[in-house]
Amino acid sequence: MRVRTAILISGRGSNMRSLIAAASDPSFPAQIVLVISNVENVEGLTHAAAAGIATKVIPHKSFPSRQAFDAAVDAALSEADVTIVCLAGFMRILSDWFASKWEGRLINIHPSLLPSFKGVHVHEQALTAGVRISGCTVHFVVPELDAGPIIAQAAVPVEHGDTPDRLAARILEQEHKLYPAALKMLAEGGVKLENGRAVFQPARAR
Ligand code: GAR
Repeated sequence: MRVRTAILISGRGSNMRSLIAAASDPSFPAQIVLVISNVENVEGLTHAAAAGIATKVIPHKSFPSRQAFDAAVDAALSEADVTIVCLAGFMRILSDWFASKWEGRLINIHPSLLPSFKGVHVHEQALTAGVRISGCTVHFVVPELDAGPIIAQAAVPVEHGDTPDRLAARILEQEHKLYPAALKMLAEGGVKLENGRAVFQPARAR
């Protein structure tokens, strides 16, 4: 049985599309069953619906607190019998309660080589720091922002004269390869979160 997976988005949804495309192969170990956006009318929702995936808008502004919003997201995930949750350009900080409840089954993609350049304006941070290599990271989500155990990374060289937009575009190309590979690994039991660390299981040992 393929692992029932949801994707949380806030906008364009290009990483979401790469996950949906990978999971359209019936041999992929995860099945995308639900896309949730906290913002109405975003491009990602249109693409998800066109791909025949169930979508739900849960506008954070309609909730009195972060906890109430997170409880509504949690209820939608449970109702859809979801096992894995992928954050893909989801620009809301989730509560400690939510992160703890989904621990080990909740992953995020971030456009830097963590632990460098957490938070927002990531490419500006990288260019200001003058690093010669940046990239992207898929990690387990823990209560502390962008600090969870790392599942996979891809490196992208910084080019002379790079702008944040140019660097972002080259990193995004790598994100689209890295995220499906990381989801595949998690869904088939190739990586687990144990005692706060990502523990990897080679295929032959499973
Ligand atoms: C991606 O670059 C993703 O890594 C980043 O937002 C972009 C979303 O693009 N996420 C974060 O910065 C999270 N902290 P997408 O909507 O086209 O996937």
